[in-house]
Amino acid sequence: MRTMYCGEVTEAVIGQEVELVGWVNKQRDLGGVIFLDLRDRAGIVQVFFDSDTAESTALATTLRNEFCIKIKGLVRPRPEGQVNKEMTTGGIEILGLELEILNRAEPSPLDSNQKNSEEQRLRYRYLDLRRPEMAQRMQFRAKVSSFVRRFLDENGFLDVETPILTKATPEGARDYLVPSRTHKGQFFALPQSPQLFKQLLMMSGLDRYYQIVKCFRDEDLRADRQPEFTQIDIETSFMSADQVMAISEEMIVNLFKEMLDVDLGTFPKMTYADALRRFGSDKPDLRIDFELVDIADLVKEVEFKVFSDPANDTESRVAAICVPGGAKLSRKNIDEYGKFVTIYGAKGLAWMKVNEVAKGIDGVQSPIAKFLNEAIVIELLARTNAQDGDIILFGADKINIVSEAIGALRLKVAEDMGLISAQWKPLWVIDFPMFEALEDGSLTPLHHPFTAPINMTVEELEASPVGAISNAYDMVLNGCELGGGSVRIHKQDMQAAIFRILNISDEEAQDKFGFLLEALKYGTPPHAGLAFGLDRLIMLMTGTSSIREVIAFPKTASAACPLTNAPGFANPAALAELNIAVLKEEKKEQA
Ligand code: AMO
Ligand code: AMP
Repeated sequence: MRTMYCGEVTEAVIGQEVELVGWVNKQRDLGGVIFLDLRDRAGIVQVFFDSDTAESTALATTLRNEFCIKIKGLVRPRPEGQVNKEMTTGGIEILGLELEILNRAEPSPLDSNQKNSEEQRLRYRYLDLRRPEMAQRMQFRAKVSSFVRRFLDENGFLDVETPILTKATPEGARDYLVPSRTHKGQFFALPQSPQLFKQLLMMSGLDRYYQIVKCFRDEDLRADRQPEFTQIDIETSFMSADQVMAISEEMIVNLFKEMLDVDLGTFPKMTYADALRRFGSDKPDLRIDFELVDIADLVKEVEFKVFSDPANDTESRVAAICVPGGAKLSRKNIDEYGKFVTIYGAKGLAWMKVNEVAKGIDGVQSPIAKFLNEAIVIELLARTNAQDGDIILFGADKINIVSEAIGALRLKVAEDMGLISAQWKPLWVIDFPMFEALEDGSLTPLHHPFTAPINMTVEELEASPVGAISNAYDMVLNGCELGGGSVRIHKQDMQAAIFRILNISDEEAQDKFGFLLEALKYGTPPHAGLAFGLDRLIMLMTGTSSIREVIAFPKTASAACPLTNAPGFANPAALAELNIAVLKEEKKEQA
C-alpha cells in the first residue's frame, strides 16, 4: 500500500511521487489549504493539500486526529525559513495529490498533550503506543533483542525454550499458580526463572544455552519490577565465573557501542562487603561522587551516646556522607531527610554544616559539635574530604540500618541536589555471602539455593554456613541491578547439604527438587550462568524511569491490566471443572 514510511521521507526523494499510509497526527485548515501531520511508526511527515486538488482538499477538511489514511503526493523541499532541523523529515514537505480515508476514528480518549494518567494510558495502550516516543522505544527494544540473539548465536549459544507450566523455582518471590484440570487439586507454578531447566540442559550436554524468556513473580511491584518480565537467560558448561562475566560483559559493551555509540570500558569488580561499606548498597550507583565513611573509631569516647554506644558495639556502625554544597540546605530540608531515613529504621540524622574547613571546630555548625572536640572534627573533615560549603550527615545504629538508611539517603540527596553525573557507570559486584539470616535466625540464600560456595568443602560449609561466600556475581549499571548469576552446584552431596542448611527436609527436597538431585547423579558438568533483566536494560538505555515505559502491555502497580481487565473472575463451570471453590469475599477479608 505504501512506497515508504512517513518518518523516512527525506531530501533524498525530492521530486518523486510517494504513497504513504498512516494516522492523522494533526490537521490544520488554513482556508483552502489543509496541512496534515501524517504519522506512522517511523515518524511524522508534513503533507498539504491545496486548491489544485480540489476534491482531495475537500476530503482533507473532514479529517480528524487518528483517522487512518492513505495519500499520494509529490515530495518538495520546504520553503526557506520553514526547515525543521530537529525532524528527519524537516527538510521536505509533501504536496498531496490523492487522499483516501482508510478508516475514521472517534475522538481519542487520550489527551494529545500527553497529560494522561498511567491508568488511562494503559487502558488505551494501543493508542498510547502510537505516540512516536513509545513507538521508538518498542523499536529500540526489538533491535536490542535482535542484537543479543545475534551475539549469542555467534558465540555458540543455543536458543532453547523451557516450560511455562512447571514446578516452583525458588527466586525469592511468590509463585503464580495454575490449577490442573486433569489432576484435580494440583497446580502448576509459572517459572520465576528457567533456572532449573537451564541447569538440566547443561546436564544434557547442550553446553551453551540462552533464551529471551518471560519470568513470573508475584511480588510487590516497583518502578523496576513487574509480575511478568523478560530475562536474557544464559547458562554455560565448563566456564568459570570470570569467563561468564567476561562474555556477558562483552555482550553488554558491544550492545552499548552499537545502539548508543557509548564505550562502557572495562567493568570494575567490587566485593559485596566493600559495596555495603562504601555505598550502603549491593547495587552501588557510582555516578555519585561521595561515599559512606566510617567514623566509629573517632567517636568511641564522646559523650554523645547516640554515637558512642554503636561505636563500641561490633554489630553497629557509625558512618557519614559529605554532600558537596550541602551547607545551603535549610533546616526544613534537613528535617525532611531526617524523616526519610526513618523509613529504613534509623532513629535520627545528625548533621554538620562545614562553613570553613580551615577553622576546624569553629568553622562548623552542628547540634552535635558540642559533644566533639577539635581533633575529632579535624579528622572527620579530613576523612570525609569536606570542603567549605558542604554538609556532613551521620547515621549511627545497627550495621544494616545505617548502611541501608545512609545508602538510600546518598541517592536521594544526590538526586535532589543534581549531583548524579551524566555518565554510564557499570560494575560487577562479587563475593556475596551464601546466606542471609532472617529474624527468626533461619538462613535464606542470598542468590538462590543452587549457587556454589567459593572454595569450600561440604564439611566446611556445614560447619560454618554463615561466613560462607558464594561464587555469584551481579552486573550493576548506574545503581540498577541489571543481571545476576553464579557458578552452580554440580555435585549432589553439596546440593543436599545446602538444602539441609536451609532447613529443607529430605522429604521436602525430594518433593520440590527430587528431579534435580537425581539428575546430579549422572555426570553433571561444572556449569555457571546468569540472567539479565531485559526490561531494565531497555529502561536504562532509553533513559526512562520505569520498566512500564518499555513494555508493550505492562501491569499496573497493583498487578492488574486496565486494558483487558485482567485478572477477572472465572465462570463457575470452569471452576467446577477444576474442582475449585472460591471463598466468599467476607471470608477472604477475615483471613
Ligand atoms: P535474578 O532473580 O537475580 O536471577 O533475576 C535476574 C535479573 O532479572 C531482573 N528481574 C526483574 N526485572 C523486572 N521485574 C522483576 N520482578 C524482576 N526480577 C528480577 C533483574 C535481575 O538482575 N535464575 C537467576 C539467574 C541466574 O542465576 O542465572 C535469576 O533469575 O534485572
Ligand atoms: P538528640 O540528642 O536525640 O536530639 O539527637 C541529636 C541529633 O542526633 C539529632 O540531629 C538527631 O536527629 C541525631 N540522631 C539521633 N539518633 C541518631 C542516630 N541513630 N543516627 C544518627 N543521628 C541520630
